[in-house]
Amino acid sequence: MEVIICDTAETAGEIAAARVARECVGKAEPVLGFATGSSPLAIYAQLAEWVAEGKLDLSQAHGFALDEYVGMPKEHPESYWAVIDRTVTKPLRMNPDRVHVPDGRAEDLANAGAEYERKIKAAGGVDVQILGIGSNGHIGFNEPTSSLSSRTRIKTLTERTRLDNQRFFDSLDEVPTHCLTQGLGTILDAEVAILVASGDHKARAVADMIEGPVCAVCPGSVLQLHEHATVIVDEAAASELRFSEYYRHVYDRLPDWQRIGPANWD
Ligand code: F6R
Repeated sequence: MEVIICDTAETAGEIAAARVARECVGKAEPVLGFATGSSPLAIYAQLAEWVAEGKLDLSQAHGFALDEYVGMPKEHPESYWAVIDRTVTKPLRMNPDRVHVPDGRAEDLANAGAEYERKIKAAGGVDVQILGIGSNGHIGFNEPTSSLSSRTRIKTLTERTRLDNQRFFDSLDEVPTHCLTQGLGTILDAEVAILVASGDHKARAVADMIEGPVCAVCPGSVLQLHEHATVIVDEAAASELRFSEYYRHVYDRLPDWQRIGPANWD
């Protein structure tokens, strides 16, 4: 796993955006995987800037969100459909017909996951998956003890996750209890995975993900099995890493062509 430690969350977002944009260059119809939540917002803002400047064109790209709350109307401002529309589809000028979010209101919820997997496959699979990590180590909404080879399915949210997400709602009661989420096996299928995290409330989960054992108790640790996973964190989120000096040492010595950043992704 490649680990990049940045001074600030903004720099982490810029470097992550450059990595994402790099994966789109030269592809007629790149397939992007999107996380919601606060962590990737800096990535989306930077990508939107490049789109607005004409440096990046995502009009032919496909997009797949990681997850959606079960039972929440699409029109609710905190449904992940609405969040993706607001923070990704519109600012990145993507074709809304090509941006998909799991259907948390599907009549046949038991099969909605398999249907979503079929759509991802039909688009050719995800080229670059953007990820955040929960304070309990979840990626997507794969809560601790999720199967490491799980596919898109319904999950019950932990109270920790509901409390973490309460900030988007007026009260805890309004935070849904279930979600449809891509599985860890689904996430592992992406060609490239880029995870961003910031703040000291993520430090334990980040350390467990990168340096702990691969285990279902920290779902993010499954990325240790991914061939091309990059974790980009700020100093606070890196504060519990045992090998941070080594990660800095490696990054400082990267040849320029491998040090993809805002200045050289194109
Ligand atoms: C949401 C998702 C989650 C979030 C995680 C971190 O689509 O995939 O795994 O990435 O809960 O959320 P933030 O970034 O809000 O701290």
